[in-house]
Amino acid sequence: MKKKEEQKTIHVRDRRFRLFLSAEQIDKIVRNLADQISKKYFDKNPVCVVVLKGAFVFAADLIRYMEIPCEVTFLRAESYGAEMHSSGEVKITFFSNGNRLRHRHILLIEDIVDTGLTVKEIYRYLQQFKPKSIETVTLLLKPETYVGEIPAFIGKAIPSLFVIGYGMDYNENGRFLKDLYVLDTNDDKHNGK
Ligand code: IMP
Ligand code: MG
Repeated sequence: MKKKEEQKTIHVRDRRFRLFLSAEQIDKIVRNLADQISKKYFDKNPVCVVVLKGAFVFAADLIRYMEIPCEVTFLRAESYGAEMHSSGEVKITFFSNGNRLRHRHILLIEDIVDTGLTVKEIYRYLQQFKPKSIETVTLLLKPETYVGEIPAFIGKAIPSLFVIGYGMDYNENGRFLKDLYVLDTNDDKHNGK
């Protein structure tokens, strides 16, 4: 039964993806992250800054498992376009009143950190609000490609492969999937760039 699930593949546009993490496995990871964050932030009333679009599903689960008060706001970071790799430039759009972030503890909620460029640019952007602290929680991290300060909370380190589902997309497809899928290595024209 399990074996069958592991072999599960789907097609999204022109690509084949195979099951990588089931909804149950993701849930365990998210609960564990929420525990760590709750312990560290129990008296800090942090502002959670959710990085759109990819982190919206993860953030919705995470903040409900975190048993501490927090505020939530959103920003959008765009770097991938229609591609499976970063364009090297990050466009940031902030949707809220920056005063809500001023002198606060900020917890950046990211779906996946690849090269680290997005997080770096967001940190630079958020400095204008003179936060008390900024830390990042990311569901996934690709250590092989990542350059920079290690995020405080990491759900799972993964190989440098392209994943979709649980909010993450391939050219806007696949965000709705409950499980996480990885580009099939037999279909790897884009894996490894
Ligand atoms: P970075 O700037 O290279 O660290 O890329 C970070 C952003 O690229 C993430 O916030 C995602 O939105 C997107 N991204 C990176 N890797 C993947 C992936 O495997 N699937 C979908 N989106 C990804
Ligand atoms: Mg993201």
